[in-house]
Amino acid sequence: MNKRKYIIDTDTASDDAVALVMALRSDLDILAITCTAGNLSLAKTTRNARLSCKFADTYVPPIYAGSDRPLVKTLVVGENVHGSDGLGDMFYPEPDIKLQEGHAVDAILEIARTQDDVGLITLGPLTNVAMAILLDPLAMRKITHIIAMGGQYRMTNGCTANAEFNIWVDGEAAKIVLESGIPITMVPLDVCYGEAEITADDRNTLRSLKTARGDFFVDCNRHLLAYNQRSYAKDIISMPDPTAMAVAIDPSIVTSYVDVYTQIELRSSLSYGQLIYDFYNRHKKIPNVRLVTKIDAQKFKQLVFKTAE
Ligand code: BDR
Ligand code: CA
Repeated sequence: MNKRKYIIDTDTASDDAVALVMALRSDLDILAITCTAGNLSLAKTTRNARLSCKFADTYVPPIYAGSDRPLVKTLVVGENVHGSDGLGDMFYPEPDIKLQEGHAVDAILEIARTQDDVGLITLGPLTNVAMAILLDPLAMRKITHIIAMGGQYRMTNGCTANAEFNIWVDGEAAKIVLESGIPITMVPLDVCYGEAEITADDRNTLRSLKTARGDFFVDCNRHLLAYNQRSYAKDIISMPDPTAMAVAIDPSIVTSYVDVYTQIELRSSLSYGQLIYDFYNRHKKIPNVRLVTKIDAQKFKQLVFKTAE
């Protein structure tokens, strides 16, 4: 059977890193890793993407640097969440993996133009993808679908009350992607918390494997753990990007979804970046988003543990 082909676009911080390792140790064929600024500056996200490939220890797809800022807004990074290096302030040594020449947006377009049946997994702000759509919308319509970690529909979170970080960092880019006509599966924060949270028991399971990857998954997320303890009094590592990656690797992890026409608020200073879901189909529009509303959290965790072996 042919492997399913994907490009991964990422602002590689600690949960992106786990997701990249999962992808590179799965049955997916990762054609390229394209980096954007988001959680961190572009220099740091590209470094962390290279480091993640090192920890995956399988193959190294071409890794490209892309946008160093959102389309319109000023970049706001998330070092308070993931650490100044984005990997729990572990300050891992420089990996002997090189960045590819050329821009991430050109790389996405080149793959879209020359290959069939390619999907896109996005783990960060949508700047690179929006740029590619603006440059060559027809080529991008060949992308079969986008699986995006982004948004929320019920829960509030620490970014703003109404907007999730990846969408909020570059709302203008998210709007372009939402209106592109490319089928989007959105993995919102709601399904990445609750049963999917990595608890103290889960961290013990990862440590008990006594593997470099098991330790990496826990260590590089130690800043995120401290952030969750401090900010929400929760002893957990949240793993939004690995949850989205798990949906790509094993679509049966999704146990419930709703197809819904989705817009984004960009004008209000209070709710910039909020996704507005037309659950009652008042606009009589064709749904542009498959919103994941429930996952099999145990299956997700088993996949994380198996990857760490
Ligand atoms: C998203 O924001 C980042 O902190 C994570 O990497 C994830 O992509 C969750 O809101
Ligand atoms: Ca991310």
